[in-house]
Amino acid sequence: MKSCSKPRVGYISVLYLAAVSSLLAQVCSAVKREDFKTCEQSAFCNRHRVFAETMLKNTQALDKGSTIPKTASPYSVLENSVSLDGHTLVASVQHSEEKVPLRFELSFMESGVVRVRAQEEEPLVPRFDDTQKLVLRDEGTALPYASPGSIELVTETIDQVTTHTVSYLKGNSTFSVRMAESPWSLDYLVDNKPSIRLNTKGFFRFEYLRQKPASDEADTASGEWEEKFKTWTDTKPNGPESFGMDISFSGFEHVYGIPEHSSPLSLKDTRGGDKNAYDQPYRLYNLDVFEYELDNPMALYGSIPFMVAHNADSTVGVFWMNAAETWIDVTREKSNALGSLFSRSSTKQIPAVNTHWVSESGVLDVFLLPGPNTADVYRQYAELVEPTPLPRSFSLGYHQCRWNYIDQEDVLSVSSKLEEHKIPYDVIWLDIEHTDGKRYFTWDSAKFPDPVAMQNELAQAGHKLVNVVDPHIKRDSAYRIWKEASDNGYFVKTREGSEDFQGWCWPGDSNWVDYFNPDACKWISEQFHIDHYNQSTDNLFVWNDMNEPSVFNGPEITMDKDARHHGGWEHRDVHNIFGMLYHKATADGLRTRESPSKRPFVLSRAYFAGSQRYGAIWTGDNTAEWSHLQASIPMVLSNNVAGLHFIGADVGGFFGNPDQKLLTRWYQLGIWYPFFRAHAHIDTKRREPWLLGEPYLSYIRDAIRERYRLLPFWYTLFREASITGMPVVRPMWIEFPSETKLFAEQDAFMVGSAIMVVPATDSNTNQAIDVVFPSQENWYDIKTHASYIGPTKRQFSVDLSSTLVFARGGSVVVTRERHRSSSDLMKRDPFTVYVYVGRNGTASGRLYVDDGDTYDYEQGAFIERELSFSGAKLTSRASTLTKDTSAYRDYLKKMAKVRVERLVVVGLRNPLTKATVVENGVTREIELSYKGAANDAECVVRDPAVHIGEDWGITLS
Ligand code: GLC
Repeated sequence: MKSCSKPRVGYISVLYLAAVSSLLAQVCSAVKREDFKTCEQSAFCNRHRVFAETMLKNTQALDKGSTIPKTASPYSVLENSVSLDGHTLVASVQHSEEKVPLRFELSFMESGVVRVRAQEEEPLVPRFDDTQKLVLRDEGTALPYASPGSIELVTETIDQVTTHTVSYLKGNSTFSVRMAESPWSLDYLVDNKPSIRLNTKGFFRFEYLRQKPASDEADTASGEWEEKFKTWTDTKPNGPESFGMDISFSGFEHVYGIPEHSSPLSLKDTRGGDKNAYDQPYRLYNLDVFEYELDNPMALYGSIPFMVAHNADSTVGVFWMNAAETWIDVTREKSNALGSLFSRSSTKQIPAVNTHWVSESGVLDVFLLPGPNTADVYRQYAELVEPTPLPRSFSLGYHQCRWNYIDQEDVLSVSSKLEEHKIPYDVIWLDIEHTDGKRYFTWDSAKFPDPVAMQNELAQAGHKLVNVVDPHIKRDSAYRIWKEASDNGYFVKTREGSEDFQGWCWPGDSNWVDYFNPDACKWISEQFHIDHYNQSTDNLFVWNDMNEPSVFNGPEITMDKDARHHGGWEHRDVHNIFGMLYHKATADGLRTRESPSKRPFVLSRAYFAGSQRYGAIWTGDNTAEWSHLQASIPMVLSNNVAGLHFIGADVGGFFGNPDQKLLTRWYQLGIWYPFFRAHAHIDTKRREPWLLGEPYLSYIRDAIRERYRLLPFWYTLFREASITGMPVVRPMWIEFPSETKLFAEQDAFMVGSAIMVVPATDSNTNQAIDVVFPSQENWYDIKTHASYIGPTKRQFSVDLSSTLVFARGGSVVVTRERHRSSSDLMKRDPFTVYVYVGRNGTASGRLYVDDGDTYDYEQGAFIERELSFSGAKLTSRASTLTKDTSAYRDYLKKMAKVRVERLVVVGLRNPLTKATVVENGVTREIELSYKGAANDAECVVRDPAVHIGEDWGITLS
C-alpha cells in the first residue's frame, strides 16, 4: 500500500479546499483513476474501438472460403479519382453508405518519407490544420518533397484488385507505396517487403462533419453531440469529427515510443489474449496526474505521437501528427497471410504489431518513415520536426531543486554547502513559494529582499538560478501581468467565446494566456525580458510547470475541451500542443532578452512533438520508491526513442522520503539522465546530499563528479543529436540492432554509442546483477578498466559504492577531470582522452567544444575533433563540419592554450615504453606508464600537452 501523503491542494488557500474535491480525495491513495477517462468513457475512443471489433468480425465472415483476403472496410477509392500531381498522389475515398468524399493526399519526400493526409473534400466547417505550422520545420513550408518526375505511378489490376504504386530508389533500398482501391488500403514496401500497412485491418473510419440533427434525434448516447464526465459536460458544437486508422508493422514484434507513459520500453499489447496486456489503449492527452501509477497506459504530462518499430533487419517509424486527444491500441499477431495484396501460399509465420490510432479532431496527417535503419529513421524524423538544438552547456550539469528553497539565505547556504562538500552543481531552483502569492514574475520580498544580489552572488562561482513561471495567471486587477493580459484580451475564452476562461490552480482563481494568439505570445515572451521581469538578471532561467494545462477544478484536471482559442478553435483541437507553445514563448523570451542572443534554458512539464526545440522536459511527479527508480529508465528511453532527448526524472523521487540507499542509487542512475535534477515535494524532509552523512555523501559526491568528468562527452553527444537526430541515451537495440534478445532490454542502456550503464535499482544493497556484454567486442569497466569480452554474460555483486558502467571497445571518450564548483569554471580546463581499444585494435570518437552559451557556433566558432586510434597511434583532426571562418579562428585563439593533459589507452596488451608526439611538425618523445595486467592493460601518457584545436598524432611504442 502506498503511504498517505498530503495532497498538494494543501498549498492553495483554504477557501478552495472545499471546491477542489477531486484532489482532496487523493489524500491517501495513489492515482485516482476515476478522475481520468477510460477509452469507454471517452466517447470517440469507444466508438472507434467498437467499430474495430465489428470490422474484425465482418472481415472474418467475409474471409471464410475466400481466396483473396479482403477486409470488410467500407471505404473505397472513387473511380477515376486518382492522379499524380507533382510529388502528391491524390485520390477521393468514400464510405459505401455515407457518400461524403474524402480527399486523400499521399506526398512523397526525397528521404522516402510518405505523408498521408485526409479530410472531407468539402468539410462543413474548417478542421484545425495548424498543427503542421506549429510542429513541422519551417512551419511545414519547406519539407524536401521528391522532385516531380523522380516518382512514377503504376496502376494495375490483378485478381480484380486495382492498385496504384509509386516506387523510388533510395541508396540501396527500393521504397514503394501501393494503394489498393477497394477497400482502400496502403502498403509501404521496403525492398519489396510490406513494412508499414494502413487499413489492412479495415479500422479506418472518418467521422465527417455534419449538421446537428434536431435535438430529439441527436444521438447523445454515443456522445457525438454532448459528452458528460463526472460533473462536467463537454458540448460538442461540431459534433463527431474523429477519425481512426489501423497501422500494422509487418515483420515486427517490437514497437517503442509514443510517450508519455509509465510503461515498459517495448510497448505492451492493449487488448487481446496476452496475459500481460493492458485493458486500455495507450492514451495521449497531456494531463497532470497526481501520484501516477506505474506500468500503465494512462496519459501523463506529455504526448509525442511518434512510434518506432524495429526488427533485426530494419527500423521504421510512424508520426501521427495530431494535437487532439489520441488513443493507440497495440496488439501482436503471427500469421501466414499477409493481407489483401499478397498470396496466402507462404507458410512462414510473419509476426506483426497491429496498432490502431484514433484522434478526436483535426485532420488526418500521418508520416510513414521507412528507415530502413535506425539512423535513417532519426534523420527522417529530424527533417520533419528538427532535432534537439545544442543546449546551454551549464544545463547538462547538476540541478539542485526542491519545493521550496525558503528564502535568499537558504539558497545561498545550500550553494555554499555544496561547495564546502566539494559537490559541483550548476543551477539552484526556486519553486512557486518564491513569488508574491503565486503571482509569477514577482518575488516574495520578505523572503527575497535582494534577488539581484542573490543572483550575482551565485554567478560568482558560475552558478545559475531557475525560477518557476507557471502558465496560470492569478485573477487580481492589482497584478500587472493579469491586468495587461486581461485588458488586451489575451486569455483563453469560454465556450461562448465572450468571457475569459477561469479555473483554479496554485494561486486560486486564474486565467490562462492563449498562446494561439500571436500577439499574446509576443507579449508573454517580453515578460521574460530583463526590463520586464522585475529583479531578474541574465543569470536567471525558467521552469514552466502545470502547462498541460493543469486546472484543478477542470475535467480530468485540465481545461474544458470546448474552451475557445484564438481563431475560434476549440481547446479539444489543440490540447496536446498548448504546453509546448508556452515552452516556446518562454524560450523565445529568454533568447531575445539580450543581444547578441544567448541560448535559453527552459524546463517544461507538458510537451509534444517539437518540444525538443525549446528546452528540457522532466517526467513529472514521481515517488521516492524503488519501483519509480526502475520505471524512470524506460520513461527516459521512450522519450529519447521519440526524439525528445533532453529529459530526466526527479532524482530522489518527488513524493515521499527516500532512505539513504534509495537516494544514493537514484543519484548513481540520475547522472545518466540527459537532464539531471534532484527535486522534492514541499512536505518531504530535506535531503541535500550532505544531510545523508557518510558513506552516502561520498557515494553521491562521486556520482555527481562522474557526471562532471564526462561533461565533454555529454556535450558532444548533444552536438551529435543536434545534427543527426540520434537519441542521446539509447535502448540497447539501437546500438545492437540485430541482437534480438536485447530488443526489450531496459535494465541496461547506452549513453551514446560508447558507454553502457547497468544501474542497480534494487533495495538490496548487496545484490547480484547480470550484465550482458553484447557483440564480439571488448568492454571495460569505466573505473577499474577491467575488461570483458563479448558476447558474454557475467554476474557482478555490487555494494552501494559500486556501479556497473562499461566503455565499449572501439570508442574514444574525452573528459575533464579537475574538480570545479560548476561547469562554467571548467571551460578552459585541459582534457583527458581515453582510448578504449576494440577487438581489432582500433578506436574512434569525437570531441565537440564551443563557448556553451551563444549562437556563435552557427558561424563556425567551435572545435570539433575526430579522434582515431589505429596501429597504436592516436590522431586528432578537424571534423568535416569545421570551416575556416573568422568566428572559428577567433574561437581557436581563445582556446589556444587548452591542451590534453593525459592520454589513457585501455586494452593494449603489448608492453609500451614511450609516446612520440607530433604536433605542428614538431616531434617530442615522452615517457609513459604501462600496466599490463592480463585483463586491465592500461597505458597512461602524462601531459602530452597537445592542443585541443590542433592536428596532432601520438604514437605509442
Ligand atoms: C507540480 C510540479 C512539481 C512542483 C510543484 C509545485 O507538482 O510537478 O515539480 O514542485 O508543482 O510547483
